[in-house]
Amino acid sequence: MSKKPVTAVIVGAGHRAIIYADYSLEHPDELKIVGIAEPDEERRTEAAEKYSIPKENCFYDSYELAKKGRIADVIINGTMDKYHVVTSLPLLELGYDMLLEKPFAVNKNEMRLLVNTAKKFGNKVMVCHVLRYSEFYKNIKKTLMSGEIGDILSIQLSENVSYHHYATSYVRGKWANSGESGTSMLLAKCCHDIDMMMWLMGNVKPVYACSTGSLQYFKKENAPENSGERCLLDCPLTDTCNLSAKRMYLDMPGCWDFYVWPELHHAPYNEKYEYLKNISPYGRCAFKCGNNVADHQSVIIKFSSGATGSHNLTGGSAFSMRSIHIIGTKGEIDGSFEEQKFTVSYINPHADSDHDEKVVDLSDRCSAGIGHGGGDHALVADFIKYVRNEETSFSCTSLSDSVTGHLVVFAADESMEKGGVPVKTRL
Ligand SMILES: NC(=O)c1ccc[n+]([C@@H]2O[C@H](COP(=O)([O-])OP(=O)(O)OC[C@H]3O[C@@H](n4cnc5c(N)ncnc54)[C@H](O)[C@@H]3O)[C@@H](O)[C@H]2O)c1
Repeated sequence: MSKKPVTAVIVGAGHRAIIYADYSLEHPDELKIVGIAEPDEERRTEAAEKYSIPKENCFYDSYELAKKGRIADVIINGTMDKYHVVTSLPLLELGYDMLLEKPFAVNKNEMRLLVNTAKKFGNKVMVCHVLRYSEFYKNIKKTLMSGEIGDILSIQLSENVSYHHYATSYVRGKWANSGESGTSMLLAKCCHDIDMMMWLMGNVKPVYACSTGSLQYFKKENAPENSGERCLLDCPLTDTCNLSAKRMYLDMPGCWDFYVWPELHHAPYNEKYEYLKNISPYGRCAFKCGNNVADHQSVIIKFSSGATGSHNLTGGSAFSMRSIHIIGTKGEIDGSFEEQKFTVSYINPHADSDHDEKVVDLSDRCSAGIGHGGGDHALVADFIKYVRNEETSFSCTSLSDSVTGHLVVFAADESMEKGGVPVKTRL
């Protein structure tokens, strides 16, 4: 007998929720979008048309939706970071299961509230740690599970965020100011990486984290001489500065379109030019935006086994890159997410060499740039299994499974604030 599709309501029809909801278009037998809650009329109408949502199931926001009682099996919650918990609680109380964007909470108090509510009402909540579902990290996890490199001594991750991504999201954009967004740079960008480190470490749990970092470069005192306030309005460097809004958003086609031009996506050049010149927050000088999140941060983690973990985050690099190096008692893994390739080296003394190695090349299967290396839709497929009580994959990011990574991020940020002292990673 064929199963009915899981029915879902989108809460927050932004960039992310739509990516997940689009899974329903490719797999109508698995997922059906039946409702929408979104304050922005244009987004609400567009999504209602795209997924053929009846008028009576279109709501202004999550609170209006909650008043209606339960109308579907699950919620896809794609609101911004600081709204995750407040929008989720009334819906969890109604019994909805939920696909919830990361970070699922922005501090420990929120985290407790969400975890306790889901426990009380028995909801299945899955957090969108999409990288766990990419072929690259899945294959690294499989290698570790096979025991090929022995016990982990050191796990070293780094993420370099390109200058155009960093300037768009963390200087001019939605995550620039922690007072407004509710999130630090580490929480917004690297809760994925830290979550992955916890996942790769398996049953070995973190004990404490130390961290140091700062906002060093993207601030007023580093603005080029004679620079203006807005790149196209009053700045003589608009055609030469590497962070010029004109060079990034008008001269480089497709550069962060979905953040910079949410409404003007298809507008003619002149209209975009005028908007960027006079109105858009993305038209501001990247040194004069009032941003306060770190542009680089290093985290060190001590694990219960004695192993150490490190994560280096740097915003402003020439190109984006995630790398990983794990050293075990029998060998090591060294890889680049962008290249979708990793090398496994095995300790093996012999005449020709001190080690053997194999290269795992996944680049023909997936590109890092497409949906987080294929992770976005693989995650939705697993979420459907999760709510149907079917066997999920080893990547499954249930709420309880995602708590540890968030706790490490909270501890690291506290440590950075306190000058690098060790902070325990407990709830
Ligand atoms: N998993 C990932 O890899 C990944 C990548 C990027 C962003 N994110 C996360 O995804 C989330 C969404 O990011 P985005 O860029 O899509 O955001 P967005 O701003 O484009 O969308 C959020 C939407 O929520 C709506 N909203 C606000 N309050 C609401 C309410 N009470 N009820 C219903 N809707 C409400 C807003 O109007 C907006 O349309 C963020 O938490 C972000 O950190 C995750």
